Amino acid sequence: MCGIVALIGSREAAPQLLEGLRQLEYRGYDSAGIATIDAAGLHCLRAEGKLVNLTVRFEAQGAPGHCGIGHTRWATHGKPEERNAHPHLDGSGELAVVQNGIIENHRSLREELQATGVMFRSDTDTEVIPHLLARQLQLLQQGGRVASGSLLLQAVQEVLPLLQGAYALAVVWAQAPGALVVARRAAPLLIGLGEGEFLCASDTPALAGFTRTILPMEDGEVALLTPLGIELYDAAGERVQRTPSLLSGTEHVADKRSFRHFMLKEIHEQPETAALWVARHLPELGNQAGSQAGGSAPSSPMVALPLDDALFEGVERIQLLACGTSRHAAQVGAYLLEQLAGIPTDVFYASEFRYAPPPLGPHTLTIGVTQSGETADTLAALAMEQARRRLVADPAYAPRLLGITNRPESSLGRLVDQVLDIGAGIEVGVAATKTFLGQLLAFYGLALAFAERRGGSVNGRGPEQLRALVAQLRSLPGLLRQLVDDHDQRCEALAHRFAETQDVIFLGRGINYPIALEGALKLKEISYIHAEGYPAGEMKHGPIALLDAQVPVVSIAVPGTVFEKVLSNAQEAKARDAQLIGVAPEGPDTDIFDVLLPVPAVDELLSPLLTVIPMQLLSYHIAAHRGLDVDQPRNLAKSVTVE
Ligand code: G6P
Repeated sequence: MCGIVALIGSREAAPQLLEGLRQLEYRGYDSAGIATIDAAGLHCLRAEGKLVNLTVRFEAQGAPGHCGIGHTRWATHGKPEERNAHPHLDGSGELAVVQNGIIENHRSLREELQATGVMFRSDTDTEVIPHLLARQLQLLQQGGRVASGSLLLQAVQEVLPLLQGAYALAVVWAQAPGALVVARRAAPLLIGLGEGEFLCASDTPALAGFTRTILPMEDGEVALLTPLGIELYDAAGERVQRTPSLLSGTEHVADKRSFRHFMLKEIHEQPETAALWVARHLPELGNQAGSQAGGSAPSSPMVALPLDDALFEGVERIQLLACGTSRHAAQVGAYLLEQLAGIPTDVFYASEFRYAPPPLGPHTLTIGVTQSGETADTLAALAMEQARRRLVADPAYAPRLLGITNRPESSLGRLVDQVLDIGAGIEVGVAATKTFLGQLLAFYGLALAFAERRGGSVNGRGPEQLRALVAQLRSLPGLLRQLVDDHDQRCEALAHRFAETQDVIFLGRGINYPIALEGALKLKEISYIHAEGYPAGEMKHGPIALLDAQVPVVSIAVPGTVFEKVLSNAQEAKARDAQLIGVAPEGPDTDIFDVLLPVPAVDELLSPLLTVIPMQLLSYHIAAHRGLDVDQPRNLAKSVTVE
């Protein structure tokens, strides 16, 4: 986790570093720091809490120099206190390091250094790095080498093999004021190329307004940056030449517009997310007819996905790996892939899969679902799956990896064979909203494409029914616009009822069970109210014991296979005095609810695209009503780049 930035060039570094950190604050925000270098030496400022505390300190004390590093932290090793904030320095105070990741063997390294008299000032794993570098630099200088950027590079190259784990780091040294050294292994880091200046960062938003030309670093690479240029080396120390790429669109610009919070803005952007997806992936009716007449067209006539045909061929099983909200999208996806396309599909917590994978099966498609494309657990699980399949000689077991992400340029994009870009635009709020909708849409596209290629006759849904679903999907942006506007007001009005609430139960069944889980997760994440998502039929096997007049029950009830069942389950809750909030179409069946958050009646299979909206807005308004930090809830970060 955490975000790092590093700058070298001709401008004052500190303001740009602070701006970069502001854009990366979503990655962690429990403390922050910067270190700059000028002729007078190294200047380090750190502050506990939000970035604003560091900014205040900078305004009072300054941090001069044209070269510097910065860090915004999400605590892993050591409490969120100033002494554990990065940058971390060596004993002389001349060398500073920021790091994102975990140095897994830090304990043994710390003991080894302590045995030689090194004093540690923090509880972090990172602090071993400046001390190791200082030791290495001293050795090199004793051997007659003169302080320079090249020497710092050499020291970093010699120390990195001692470190175990995943990391991205940046180092500055007062004795080489015109040099910055950066390195990465299994944690993201990219170099932004400006005019005679370079800005490195964990993620693209930090480059907003600086450059669109980027050089994403590969695993194991180390770079020496000076105002004159980049020297890039691979893990073996060989010089690497690579052409930079260009960031597209306004993807990397984060702007709250007139909304109170990013989360609310992003909820309101969902009709646009859907409209873009429809325009990109659901070809016009005329084109459909044309491709059908042409017989077996290479791309699906109903759904156009930028994926190779080979990905679809002969798939017998699908496994979905994800964490958090992405996992809930995957659960809806599994329902669709099984019920629409007839392909057995399993969903795994990525963090569990890696250490207890199921036995290998043939012709398996593995899909990593991660909005950030940087979630360490998901990447590690995918890499493990790829590695174990590569060991099997039988081509039926060959790895087939797809990524569903909002960041095709991420580490995920470099790991998998193909990527389905959800194209939701940058999401800043830690609680995922529009990226969740984008992931759902990706699964609708994928399941429809599979279903159509297989003749579309699963569970009585033939090609006509599939076309009807596609037609309803086309009307989604309009439905969403109305729903978001309507529920924004309804949920705001409802929020005050939750002022004293301590527990909420979310119930759903079938394809809406994952939406109940998502509703509960959203509420927990941003309002700190305990919430449980349950398949409605399971309530009587345990959670019903929790119910009384103080416990609201949010029940998703949409017409279809389980409508009456869910209504019965809601009745059971009502009989225990629970306050019933229904997410359901208006009608005589749904007047059992104390409060109704109405959703339009669409095909049950499409309903999660709508039922999730009241979930998001309810959580948002409850948290906002409680005066909480909706966009940066405590203890969380948007992209978790540690295992
Ligand atoms: C963090 C975030 C969650 C997110 C999860 C997975 O825990 O706080 O909101 O769902 O990571 O993130 P990903 O980028 O893999 O979708």
